[in-house]
Amino acid sequence: MKKYPSVPDLAAAARRRLPRFAFDYLDGGAGDEKGLMRNRAAFDAVQFVPGYLEPRGEPDLRTEMFARPYAMPLGVAPVGLSGLIWPRAAEYLAAAAKKAGIPFCLSAMATSSIEKIGAIAGDHGWFQLYPLADHGTEKELLDRAKEAGFSALLVTVDTPTTRRNLREIKNGMTVPPKLSLANMSRIALNPTWALATLAAGPPRFETLTPYFPPGANYTTVAEMISGLLARSIGWPEIEALRKHWSGPMIVKGLLSASDAEHCLAIGVDALLLSNHGGRQSESLVHPLDMIDEIGERTRGELKLFLDSGARSGLDVARAMARGADFVFLGRAFMYGVAALGEAGAAHAVELLRLELEQILGQIGCPDIASLPRFVAKEAGPE
Ligand SMILES: Cc1cc2nc3c(=O)[nH]c(=O)nc-3n(C[C@H](O)[C@H](O)[C@H](O)COP(=O)(O)O)c2cc1C
Repeated sequence: MKKYPSVPDLAAAARRRLPRFAFDYLDGGAGDEKGLMRNRAAFDAVQFVPGYLEPRGEPDLRTEMFARPYAMPLGVAPVGLSGLIWPRAAEYLAAAAKKAGIPFCLSAMATSSIEKIGAIAGDHGWFQLYPLADHGTEKELLDRAKEAGFSALLVTVDTPTTRRNLREIKNGMTVPPKLSLANMSRIALNPTWALATLAAGPPRFETLTPYFPPGANYTTVAEMISGLLARSIGWPEIEALRKHWSGPMIVKGLLSASDAEHCLAIGVDALLLSNHGGRQSESLVHPLDMIDEIGERTRGELKLFLDSGARSGLDVARAMARGADFVFLGRAFMYGVAALGEAGAAHAVELLRLELEQILGQIGCPDIASLPRFVAKEAGPE
């Protein structure tokens, strides 16, 4: 594991091991990809003022959320079609998350079933929903998630249009992937991926498969999914979900203070502030640039989680220092699995833990809750 001392090292290994269409599906961003760069810059801008001579012990990384203890304030963000990136990725990550005592979010577009992941993750499993067109089907899906032990619900609202990821367009990346000559030759160049995928069978949307019409086949899967999803969502849908789901509910993808206030008013428990990791548009603001205003307007009554661009335990510390209550990472964990399979899931978690512990120790911060005391105020005109 010394060969991969950071998430970017895992990303480089993933790039070598995956066929290009699979790597670009994971790694790419929308449009000119400047959103990816701005996401990175937003984390880099957060700096610490250390307190070296304070009394100190081992930094305490533990936190609590929704009345449950977690070993660290970070979790695995939902990643759809993860089985295309590496077979059984969701199973490996769910197991690693449970073992490490952090949450694992299962995507509505998962390629492992709700029941299988529920059995692995237990109450460390959180379920992510893209609202469905048919409310009966949606309720059934949520009831399955509850039954399988998922303890929180994330409702994603930031994909009103299909994204334009230019790498995917150039690669001819479709759902399911087209076996063009170019893609076949890329598969041939990546035998480890090809053999693992062959052994596991082509990825299927296991979570949604029960709701596909009879006679549906693999080639029409994209149409069936777009038929299942709600065409547009608004506050009535969010309020109805709030009424139906009895556990903690998080809205994922909002970035405006007035939307945050509305969520607080209707009983949402938390927001996952996110620009979807720069995948939907390169023009969206970074959550770190909105968190102060949103925090002020919701007066600490709404928990604020954050994702988009975090690649290290240091980034987790930076976001917590700027007021986040929890941080999620999507690609970081997937690079681990893509690079090293099952062992890569645990390795990514361990790297983030080590890095988080290191920065707290370095700046003399005793625990997660104290991080905001150590953040450097932006230097600006008096
Ligand atoms: C390959 C991929 C698939 C994703 N699929 C979903 C999804 O199904 N549902 C969802 O809410 N977010 C999805 N996301 C967004 C992530 O949950 C998260 O917001 C994002 O990855 C955070 O940025 P990061 O990758 O820089 O950490 C996906 C992200 C990636 C990279």
